Amino acid sequence: MSWLAYFKRWASKYDREVEAYGYQPHKLLLPFRALIGKRKRGLDVGCGTGKSLEVMAKFCEEVLGVEPVEKMAKRAEDRGFRVLRMRGEEVGKLREKEAQFDLVSFFASIDYMKVDEVVEGVNRILAPDGLVFMTVEPENEDKLKLLFGKQDFEVVKRVSRKAYERQTYICLLFKKQS
Ligand SMILES: C[S@@+](CC[C@H](N)C(=O)[O-])C[C@H]1O[C@@H](n2cnc3c(N)ncnc32)[C@H](O)[C@@H]1O
Repeated sequence: MSWLAYFKRWASKYDREVEAYGYQPHKLLLPFRALIGKRKRGLDVGCGTGKSLEVMAKFCEEVLGVEPVEKMAKRAEDRGFRVLRMRGEEVGKLREKEAQFDLVSFFASIDYMKVDEVVEGVNRILAPDGLVFMTVEPENEDKLKLLFGKQDFEVVKRVSRKAYERQTYICLLFKKQS
């Protein structure tokens, strides 16, 4: 089964189940608060049902979600967010339609994407001085750093956090090297 088919099947139970696990995405971003400050435009890629968009909305004046699974996207819209139906690998296409973003996030989502394509897209839509936040599974950390590093992104801060029982995420904040 593809990841998108997997999330399509999970969508209607997603909120209930992650709440039962104790998933609290704000705890993942909180250690970066001082570095991020207040941002103008945030893009949350793989936004799911909008739980991570709620966190981003505390840091950004306006937020936009990207989510390819319709049932997930619809729930995020029910929470009042604007969501584009597209894959993370396609975010580079936003450049023509949307202004740049000064915070791009991936909460529990980049592990399911083709990262080399994602980095190219992020490169196109990130504002000068923009930041990229992501949570990654520990076994994917080196690959992520390598692929973002190839495009001149550097890690500003790294924190290891328990997202819920049995799941630790490495939380990374990247900026473009000047
Ligand atoms: C574990 S959920 C996390 C959702 C949300 N960010 C949160 O923190 O609750 C992973 C999300 O990534 C989405 N996803 C999976 N593959 C994707 C892709 N290639 N592009 C964009 N989103 C994707 C899934 O549909 C799902 O909504």
